[in-house]
Amino acid sequence: MSKPSEAELIHIFKGIPFTTRSSPELLNSLDTFDAREDDVLLVSYPKSGTHWLAGVITKLYTTQVTLTSPIEFGDISKLEELNKLSSKRIIPTHLDYNMLPPNFKNKKCKMIYISRNPKDTAVSMYHYYRDNPNLPTVDTWTAFFDLFIKGDVVCGSWFDHFLSWEEHQNDKNILFLFYEDMKKDLPKSIKKISMFLDLYVSDNDIQDICKKSSFSQMKSDTEKENSSPNHTVCSLTSNRNLIFRKGTVGDWKNHFTPKQNRRFEEIFNEKMKLSKM
Ligand code: A3P
Repeated sequence: MSKPSEAELIHIFKGIPFTTRSSPELLNSLDTFDAREDDVLLVSYPKSGTHWLAGVITKLYTTQVTLTSPIEFGDISKLEELNKLSSKRIIPTHLDYNMLPPNFKNKKCKMIYISRNPKDTAVSMYHYYRDNPNLPTVDTWTAFFDLFIKGDVVCGSWFDHFLSWEEHQNDKNILFLFYEDMKKDLPKSIKKISMFLDLYVSDNDIQDICKKSSFSQMKSDTEKENSSPNHTVCSLTSNRNLIFRKGTVGDWKNHFTPKQNRRFEEIFNEKMKLSKM
C-alpha cells in the first residue's frame, strides 16, 4: 500500500502544522475543555524527552493516576473520554502556550515543560519522521534540516514553541526542565519534580525510579509492551522502538555539517535574542 500524501497526513490549524490524527474539530473545541485543579500537564515540543519525563512522573505517585494521550490527539470524542476519567490525570501536550485550553491557566494547574537542545531535538525528529509512516516522507537529513528551521514540521517552530512557554517561566504553577539536566543528574531532577508536585519521595525511592527510568530499562519495558494497544504518550506510532532510539546528548554532531551548524546558530541567536534562558 502506498504512503498517504502529505495533505492526508498534515493539516494547518492556527498557522501550526498538525497531523490529521488531531482533528480540526477537536482542536477547535479545546478552548472549552474543562480542566480540573489537580490535573498535571506534561508539556513539550516533540522529541524533547516527553516519554522519559512521563515515565518518571507516573512512578512518583503512590495513588492512582492516569497518563492520558496528548490532549490534542484524536477526534472530538477525546474531551468526553478525558471527562470520564475518575482518577487524577497526567495530560501530555505539544501545544504552544497560546493554544492551551484556557481552563488549565485559570485553574493554575501544575505544568511541567521539558526542553532539549534544539539541535538534538531536530535530529531525533528527523529519525522519527524517516521511520514513521504517519508522517510525511523526508528523503534526507539536509531536506529535514531546512523544514525544521522553517518550522515546517509537526507542532511548528521549535523557537516559537519554546518562547511561548518561556514567557511564563516565572509562573508558580510551571516548572521548566531540561533533558540535558536529567541526563546529567537524574536524582536532582526527580527531587525538583517531586517538590514541585508536593510528593514525598525517599532517597531509596529516587534510586529505584532512576533505575526504572534508565534508557535501557524503559526501552526494554516498552518492547515487552509493544503488542499491547495501550500506548499513550506517543500519538503517532505504536512502535515504541521509534521513541527509544539513542537517548544521548550531542547526537547532532553526527548529523550537522559545519555550514548547517553556522546557519542554525545564526537563526538561534536571532530568534532567541529576547530569551532569558
Ligand atoms: P533520541 O531520538 O535522540 O534517541 P519524546 O519522548 O519527546 O518523543 O522524545 C524522544 C527522545 O527521548 C528520543 O531521543 C529518546 O531516545 C529519548 N528518551 C526516551 N526515553 C529516554 C530515557 N529514559 N533516557 C534518555 N533519553 C530518553
